[in-house]
Amino acid sequence: MHFDFGGKQVYFELHGQGEPLLVLNGIFMNCASWASLAPSLSHSHQLILVDLLDQGYSARMTGDYGQALQAEMVSALLKHLSIESCNILGISYGGQVAIRFAVAHPQLVKRLVLANTTAYVSPWLEDLGHAWSYAISSYDARQFFKTCMPLIYSPQFYSANIAWLHAREQAFQERFTKDVYDAFLRLLRSTEGLDLRVHLPEIAAPTLVISSDCDYITPLADQKLIVQSIPHAKQAVLKDCGHASMYEKPVEFVSLVLSFLADFTSWQDYGIMAANRERNGVMKGNDKLIDALNSLLADELSAINQYMVHSEMCANWGYDKLHTKIERRAIDEMKHAEKLIARILFLEGTPIVSELKGIYIGADVATQLANDRAAEMGAVDAYNSAIILAGEVRDFATREILESILADEDKHIDQIEESQDQIGHMGLPIFLTTQVS
Ligand SMILES: [Fe+2]
Ligand SMILES: [Fe+2]
Repeated sequence: MHFDFGGKQVYFELHGQGEPLLVLNGIFMNCASWASLAPSLSHSHQLILVDLLDQGYSARMTGDYGQALQAEMVSALLKHLSIESCNILGISYGGQVAIRFAVAHPQLVKRLVLANTTAYVSPWLEDLGHAWSYAISSYDARQFFKTCMPLIYSPQFYSANIAWLHAREQAFQERFTKDVYDAFLRLLRSTEGLDLRVHLPEIAAPTLVISSDCDYITPLADQKLIVQSIPHAKQAVLKDCGHASMYEKPVEFVSLVLSFLADFTSWQDYGIMAANRERNGVMKGNDKLIDALNSLLADELSAINQYMVHSEMCANWGYDKLHTKIERRAIDEMKHAEKLIARILFLEGTPIVSELKGIYIGADVATQLANDRAAEMGAVDAYNSAIILAGEVRDFATREILESILADEDKHIDQIEESQDQIGHMGLPIFLTTQVS
């Protein structure tokens, strides 16, 4: 749908219900870029996607403008939707717009997620922008693609997905008209001279900065500066990941965003939680405990993968009941991962979401159950150790969270052993006939 902004039609989409989450795109993105992530992001939020001016289905501008105009458009959109406060997720260019908006309208921003963005255009980035402008001005898809795209991704992702990228290059050739290239040029020019650094300390909203270690457009150092300058900012760094983190690490990206949004219900809550933490003498993230939480997080992320593969294998074999049971366990593990990420962020640690432990796929149902049981037993041991550690460092809130997860893992073991017992009693072939819906 569209709304009118000063005579320009702006395209936006609403997905799901709940607390609003407004997403602001990077320069070469549009609403369609979120197709695969929208279901997760809108599961418990009202997801608002918008094509910025000169993007996607929104109106083309006729001349140059400053980036501040995009922030004014965002303000008009929220007014149009009668939204008095919302969460904002800004990526790259969209992150800059989000910073501008959060500075201009602090009362409207509940929480802020700034992914792979920078608060200023360094001489290096300025020249990179010029290189992009020259390539775009050629109106040649190949030149545009080869100049702009390789730097946007990590080398490992680019190489591993070369067929997909070449298909995109082909699609650019078919779809991009002069009109699209001119819009890109205006968007790029709207960032010229950008320097918001002095305003960062004015941002009151709790902020999560998502960075990537292989981001060559908005390097880690730029984002450290944002984290250091915004009073209530935390940082998560995605490993082996480039500038387009939502494409390269979609599961980790969504987990980070959702767990951050779930952690704080309001800016006031953040203040209360911070005050409680100081009063209770809980250290700003006992390093050993944060390491233990990250190790548990890697266990959970591995378990999600193992269960998802097993669940899909069972669906493939027609064992629908088993498929559903295993899928539910995968969802439980995902919730555990979210709780751990939220806790690590609260303790001012950095959640490591790109590391996995061993994933053991069984070629048949009996082996799958044995492997899943082994993984759960390992998890129980690890949670017990972490619970002891949390007690030792007197972080009883973390201990409580870990105990609640441990209770879930016990239930998982019960479920798996129940199936193994049934196989023992009735034999595998008969057991499998009971799993067909
Ligand atoms: Fe778990
Ligand atoms: Fe489990």
